[in-house]
Amino acid sequence: MTDHLTIVTHPLVQHKLTLMRDKGASTAVFRQLLREISQMLAYEVTRELEMTTQTIETPMTEMEAPVLKGKKLALISILRAGNGMLDGVLELIPSARVGFVGLYRDEKTLKPVQYYYKAPESLEDRLVVVVDPMLATGNSSVAAIDLLKAAGAKNIRFLCLLAAPEGVARMKEAHPDVPIITASLDKCLNDKGYIIPGLGDAGDRMFGTK
Ligand code: URA
Repeated sequence: MTDHLTIVTHPLVQHKLTLMRDKGASTAVFRQLLREISQMLAYEVTRELEMTTQTIETPMTEMEAPVLKGKKLALISILRAGNGMLDGVLELIPSARVGFVGLYRDEKTLKPVQYYYKAPESLEDRLVVVVDPMLATGNSSVAAIDLLKAAGAKNIRFLCLLAAPEGVARMKEAHPDVPIITASLDKCLNDKGYIIPGLGDAGDRMFGTK
């Protein structure tokens, strides 16, 4: 994967995204749609996985059949909204290893501070897919990827539902080697850091909080 930004324009992804953006979508519908879109984004992010072959026997004959090469993928969810995407991605890649990064924003410095970190071992040998539905300022994704790189990760991709141009630029500056895969590049951020037109607070909408 060489492009820094990939927008998945598949009609089903775009249709489902419109249903999610609508403020009338219920929590259950929002969660289900996020799960479905995440599966389709995961399909895209894994398109170029390395393959090898394995000898198997079909009921008819022996054959050399293609299988995925190397260690299992690592999926890293940025808490808490990342968990809504994780479910969908895991349905497609059930054997993936899973990690979590928890960050909050310091009220004074406005910088992300880590409160939780747990990642699978041998990150350096895995494709590491970071999931967070909203790439807004990019501060938390950059900080999460800093942590993963410090832990050895070398081959990282970032999967999100919506991206703001500001977040994409921040990621490109801090982590130009990390491709971003998203369903939409929206217009801008508002002065509170929300994506416009966006869909509101993804965590609140998927968990039914306010
Ligand atoms: N996080 C969200 O949940 N929504 C936004 O619009 C921006 C960041």
